[in-house]
Amino acid sequence: MNKKGMLSIATAVVLGLGAVGCGSNSSAPAASTKADTAATEAASASTQAEAAAPSGDVANKDKPLTWFNRQPSNSSTGELDKDALNYNASTYYVGFDANQGAELQGQMVADYISAHADTIDRNGDGVIGYVLAIGDIGHNDSIARTRGVRKALGTAVEKDGAVDSQPVGTNVDGTATDVQDAELKAGDKTFKVRELASQEMKNSAGATWDAATAGNAIGTWSSSFGDQIDIVVSNNDGMGMSMFNAWSKDKKVPTFGYDANSDAVAAIADGYGGTISQHADVQAYLTLRTLRNALDGVDIDTGIGTADEAGNVLTDDVYRYDADARSYYALNVAVTADNYQDFTDATKTYAPVSNQLDASKHPTKKVWLDIYNAADNFLSATYQPLLQNYDDLLNLDVDYIGGDGQTESNITNRLGNPSQYDAFAINMVKTDNAAAYTSLLNQ
Ligand code: BGC
Repeated sequence: MNKKGMLSIATAVVLGLGAVGCGSNSSAPAASTKADTAATEAASASTQAEAAAPSGDVANKDKPLTWFNRQPSNSSTGELDKDALNYNASTYYVGFDANQGAELQGQMVADYISAHADTIDRNGDGVIGYVLAIGDIGHNDSIARTRGVRKALGTAVEKDGAVDSQPVGTNVDGTATDVQDAELKAGDKTFKVRELASQEMKNSAGATWDAATAGNAIGTWSSSFGDQIDIVVSNNDGMGMSMFNAWSKDKKVPTFGYDANSDAVAAIADGYGGTISQHADVQAYLTLRTLRNALDGVDIDTGIGTADEAGNVLTDDVYRYDADARSYYALNVAVTADNYQDFTDATKTYAPVSNQLDASKHPTKKVWLDIYNAADNFLSATYQPLLQNYDDLLNLDVDYIGGDGQTESNITNRLGNPSQYDAFAINMVKTDNAAAYTSLLNQ
């Protein structure tokens, strides 16, 4: 045994922790392929992480906690859950600027119409018809994107002081009340724009943002009014690519998504209209960096707005911090035929924050982190691989827990022994459910 190993055991014994810190990846799930990858990673990480004895003297309720991707909030009103966001002195949220991204997505679609005024109206009836795949009617990001597209295209209507984000079902005759027909000038033409259909893509088991459901929906829509569909828009790439592959690629109907997953970016070469990068490379970094800083007891801005000793630093064109909401938001970038070559690998770490931290100054710590839906395209194909690249750089030994996307208890059941961990990163199924997690940390 090397010196480091002996030392760590000695420390553990002194702290009275015995073997608690070692091999605790047994709590990792075996439920899915993603989880398997996670378990392998956890296993290899724990070998290098012999020093990762949890801080036995810190109560679970005082350990660093970062919420990510699903901001604690009321799923009906969107109001932030300030109790959850201020759970303890080391609690943060990491996501992205949903409104800025939503505006960009709407603008990207509007710009596409202007640039293709001559060809966009496929059946020449003077109406630009679009269909919209909605991810989750109770999720801030999804609501913002629906609003962003409706605003940019002029189909938005106000309801209770905000843009209505409800799905319309089908609206081929233009009589739906949650949207309106718009008039849009493009080139020397004036078109009517109509949201022909929109639906929350939720499967029968309750999983939202469901790609397969979106693929089925485009099948149904296209078979009854396919010649009227000129544009397909989706709240994310998972659903967008499912519709593209099922129908629009073949019909050459521009399809727009969100997330800049690698497969969607590659599809731009085959006619996918465009997507938005929510800078997941910055978000994944911030998710783990906030924990690292809290564990190190340093200023939270270290390696974020202020360079750390390894040279990691972010500039304010890629993120902003809202102190009041204790939230870090990455900024979005539109990815279209003009620039997609720069975005082909969504899992590559962001260069300015890719420097390895010195393990002697930032010793390995154990983190519990869940992905609410192991089958979600964005989270599994983009976000988790990024986290797995950063965890090594930040000397964090992370157990990745993959949820089923439907039930909170499927995940909270696997937070049975929080004392085995130094810090937590939580991705909820439903944004109202923060207390299901914090109550476990309070015990
Ligand atoms: C992503 C979606 C994803 C969702 C999961 C969103 O930010 O854009 O693709 O399904 O998060 O919570």
